[in-house]
Amino acid sequence: FAPKLLSGRSLLLTAGPTREAIDPVRYISNHSSGKMGFALAKAAADMGANVTLVSGPVNLPTPTGVNRVDVESTDDMLNAVMAQVDAHDIFIGCAAVADYRVADIATDKIKKSATEMQLSLVRNPDILASVASHTPRPFTVGFAAETQDVARYAKDKLIRKKLDMIAANDVSSPELGFNADSNALKVIWEKGEQDLPATDKLTLATQLLTLIAKRIDNA
Ligand code: PMT
Repeated sequence: FAPKLLSGRSLLLTAGPTREAIDPVRYISNHSSGKMGFALAKAAADMGANVTLVSGPVNLPTPTGVNRVDVESTDDMLNAVMAQVDAHDIFIGCAAVADYRVADIATDKIKKSATEMQLSLVRNPDILASVASHTPRPFTVGFAAETQDVARYAKDKLIRKKLDMIAANDVSSPELGFNADSNALKVIWEKGEQDLPATDKLTLATQLLTLIAKRIDNA
């Protein structure tokens, strides 16, 4: 039984990886399974929120009561998020968004003729920063996936992307973070921080959402 701390609230969140095409059969992506984002969507629905989940390609069932929008590329994810942002009062960016995409996607399958090849990449738009600079903006929460200096890089992202809160995870250990069933978070906001020690992703999601509910009420 989860207390309905988010009843009357609406949450928009991203989950999973984005996928950037190289040609019709190949792509660039990352190891995000979507488990953390889907746990947040389930926990938020259980806590009474109206939830819209924008998901990259993952193999997970949609949690009961959650409105799901499936996307592939970062551009698709940005468009889906910006189409929904005005209808929600909380945003969480849990997706592992590809920072770069291929400059020219080949229309036909690239043949392996040369011994070496170069791909030219261009920077993708930042979905989280776009939400944070939207007016009116939802209570905006980012994730930070780091392998070193977790707190320092996360604080930098909190300020640089103008977020209300950031949930940082150390993704250097295979037992936590990407594709694992457990995770641990350091949650940081302007005037405070809290460590959420390692546990299963659904428990952690409920703990993070409880912190978010408290911060919104204090904002
Ligand atoms: O999916 P799982 O296997 O369960 O793994 C969970 C997770 C490790 C992917 C998750 O907990 C996590 O850390 N998600 C964020 C991963 C990430 O891309 O972090 P980042 O530090 O590179 O990005 C910082 C923030 O900016 C994130 O909120 C990200 O969604 C956002 N971002 C990044 C780049 C971009 N172009 N647009 C964005 O919105």
